[in-house]
Amino acid sequence: MSDTVKFLLPEDKIPKDWYNIAADLPRPPDPVLHPGTLKPIGPQDLEPLFPMTLIQQEVATERTIEIPEPVREIYRQWRPSPLYRARRLERALDTPAKIYYKYEGVSPAGSHKPNTAVAQAFYNKQAGVRRLTTETGAGQWGSALAFAGALFGLEVRVYMVRVSFEQKPYRKALMESWGAQCVASPSSETQAGRQILVRSPNSPGSLGIAISEAVEVAAQHADTKYSLGSVLNHVLLHQTIIGQEALAQLEMAGDYPDVIVGCTGGGSNFAGIAFPFIGAGLRRGPKSRVIACEPAACPSLTRGKYAYDFGDTGHLTPLVKMHTLGSNFVPPGFHAGGLRYHGMAPLVSLLQELGLIESRAYSQTSCFEAGIQFARTEGILPAPEANHAVRGAIEEALRCRAEGSARTILFNLCGHGHFDMQAYIDFQAGRLADHSYDEAALDAALADLPRVAAE
Ligand SMILES: Cc1ncc(COP(=O)(O)O)c(C=O)c1O
Repeated sequence: MSDTVKFLLPEDKIPKDWYNIAADLPRPPDPVLHPGTLKPIGPQDLEPLFPMTLIQQEVATERTIEIPEPVREIYRQWRPSPLYRARRLERALDTPAKIYYKYEGVSPAGSHKPNTAVAQAFYNKQAGVRRLTTETGAGQWGSALAFAGALFGLEVRVYMVRVSFEQKPYRKALMESWGAQCVASPSSETQAGRQILVRSPNSPGSLGIAISEAVEVAAQHADTKYSLGSVLNHVLLHQTIIGQEALAQLEMAGDYPDVIVGCTGGGSNFAGIAFPFIGAGLRRGPKSRVIACEPAACPSLTRGKYAYDFGDTGHLTPLVKMHTLGSNFVPPGFHAGGLRYHGMAPLVSLLQELGLIESRAYSQTSCFEAGIQFARTEGILPAPEANHAVRGAIEEALRCRAEGSARTILFNLCGHGHFDMQAYIDFQAGRLADHSYDEAALDAALADLPRVAAE
């Protein structure tokens, strides 16, 4: 077995519970605040947007939460996902490091996003909801919810960030094939969208703007709820199935990661791979170094402030304590559309504050270089978002070579890039620029952070 490349678990080894890191944290997360009163909210404040089961998961403190059987039933189609040892990449890098990657691109939508989309659709259907609204950056999340909506007979309306909408017409076609509707954001159909269009008619859009549109529509219709693809505690919780499977697969391989790497947009795939390992470390198990990789053009963890902020640009959502670039910050239109979010999951932010994770920011071309090297050795063409994790893992492997140390690296290959070919065409033609954000616009967005007495 010494040359094994893929570590596969049988279907009956799909975890029965999600892992809730809140149970193991040295201190509880900060409360979520009401956007009007700036006081801590109660479950009823969130009821217009989410079904009660998801609200309860948001504040849950027990270590494990059972995965409903109908959700596990659907997971069986692609879970447990494979864990690979990147032997050809290791040889190409001439590194003594062992590199493992968990591949989430095997899901029907092509990424980790269905892990939570299926769960969210299940709980909404159970609560009698007829329609879901959501935002999407890369199109991966919109596709995932469209897929889940089709399985549970829910209507799905997706507000897709305009720059991605234009870059990736086939993502819209995929969502529509599953029966969802996909609208470019900012749109003229919501108050939040119209306000942006008046100020900035050519706005490329942002996740913060698309969230405002989706929240506004859900809040105005009793039969409609809102579904978020990242950031919130319950979304991160659903993704922990990734890391739990990886723990079992690495045990099969007789290894344990010294270093864990993931890309971060809102933090969900990173949390998914890392939280079960961080939890083990907090419960006095082995400790891994954990590295979050983000785009240099939207650097919430490495450049943002740890402060209370709105989750959206239109200030319709509650406030959460997180690393933020300011809710008015509109990042440049680089190709990793799923990483163009002004904030970071509160749980990931808290872990950084507690010194339990590190973060790095990488330019877009250095990530595409890493993605191409990965494709030419391992064969899989990663999503532009996932390229940030590939870049981080390669950097760690090269450090092992320089230091002559044989560490074990695990990273999350959270999606494939088959709908992102225009980005690869542009990169290969030398047309991809390294966008830098506008410093003055960032300073202005940070200066506009809400003033919260609790801080
Ligand atoms: C493939 C892929 N990876 C990563 C992300 C970023 O989200 P998160 O940080 O929640 O995993 C996205 C978001 O759309 C995505 O599509």
